[in-house]
Amino acid sequence: MTASDLTVGPARRGVLASAVGAAGAAALAGWTAGAPHPAANDPGPDPRLAAAGATRPFRGARQAGIADSPQTYAAFVALDLAGAVDATVVRRLLTVLTDDIDRLMAGRGPLTDQEPELAGVPAALTLTVGIGPRVVAGVGAPAPAWLAPLPPFTVDRLEERWSGTDLLLQVCANSPTTVAHAQRRLLTGLAPLTTLRWVQRGFREPHEGPGLPMRNLFGQVDGTVQPDVHGLDEALLWCGGDQPAWLREGSALVLRRIRMNLDTWDQVDRLSRENAIGRRLDTGAPVTAPPGADALAPPDLDAQDSLGFHIIDDGAHLRRAHAQAPHERFLRRPYSYDDPPAPGELSDSGLLFAAFMADPVRQFVPVQQRLAEKDLLNIWTTPVGSAVFAILPGAREGEILGEALLA
Ligand code: HEM
Repeated sequence: MTASDLTVGPARRGVLASAVGAAGAAALAGWTAGAPHPAANDPGPDPRLAAAGATRPFRGARQAGIADSPQTYAAFVALDLAGAVDATVVRRLLTVLTDDIDRLMAGRGPLTDQEPELAGVPAALTLTVGIGPRVVAGVGAPAPAWLAPLPPFTVDRLEERWSGTDLLLQVCANSPTTVAHAQRRLLTGLAPLTTLRWVQRGFREPHEGPGLPMRNLFGQVDGTVQPDVHGLDEALLWCGGDQPAWLREGSALVLRRIRMNLDTWDQVDRLSRENAIGRRLDTGAPVTAPPGADALAPPDLDAQDSLGFHIIDDGAHLRRAHAQAPHERFLRRPYSYDDPPAPGELSDSGLLFAAFMADPVRQFVPVQQRLAEKDLLNIWTTPVGSAVFAILPGAREGEILGEALLA
């Protein structure tokens, strides 16, 4: 043993000191070993260990990673199939994927995993698979009309490198190591059949909770108004009988990469920032709500000030994005991104605006159209990427993903 092996750092010294302290206190109080006593200094099982071991179910009618609560870290991974696309290739691909996902989500490494210890920390991992129009055409299945690039919007400054692809893997977990490992295992498993087009990585607030909701990089409480996808609004999220049969219990993902200009946002005072969205920055409550209200307080779109102007600005994001018909709603599951900036710039930040729904043309396009026409947020935001994917139904026990697509 060397001298350095014996070195006790400040943290360990603290632990030793408190252990000695506890023993001393116990002796003084006359407790004997074995007698039950309150372990004042025992923090109990580390809750992080339980969180690291958390798994979400893979098998079922619907895929995970959609209606379940968003994890802290995400990678959206887009691939193209190498070569011609036919049913044999797609079956091979989905068979490999299904097996790898089944194992990874359960905390086990895929067969070829050389780092199974990393797979052993599933951290609520979900792996969600979507496909593009070339795959549907390749297997000879009918495609839904919405499985195509969105129409162009005046605000778009789209870069080809973030566009739609054949295959989309959404990798989400509460550990960035888990995300990185799962992503790599899936990519190596698919390597003979695919080429990687892009990866978009995002994060949310790790300490999210009632007091600390998701905030985007503008500091706004984000993701408050959502359809009730576990109840009344289920049909807004999952494909039903009006869609091709292979999509039933599947969904659609619209993924927009929206750059947020933090430099110009920095120049705006707090009142103007709140006016742009129609909500307070501290609580996320609508600007029309009484003091002390929280984010869930309903907005009053008709409220006027003494001069007769709407209190929620006519161009406020809340007003413009607000559904004007019951079907103009979808589930937003956004992640922030903060990538290394280009030389000479201070940031490359924004939102990976991920939204799930049954039919993007019917539900999403009218809202995006309204926002493109007028939305104060457009001053600081620019869509630079856009892609639409069909999210496959889930794989029940004994099935592969896309079983109905290949039937
Ligand atoms: C970087 C871009 C964006 C930012 C920073 C942003 C931010 C926000 C914030 C802070 C809210 C209020 C809280 C909430 O209800 O979640 C909100 C609401 C909303 N946003 Fe966005 N958003 C962005 C882009 C979009 C896009 C592209 C769409 C759809 C085309 C959209 C649709 C909505 C909807 C539907 C609501 C709820 C409106 C309501 O109150 O009924 N947002 N957004």
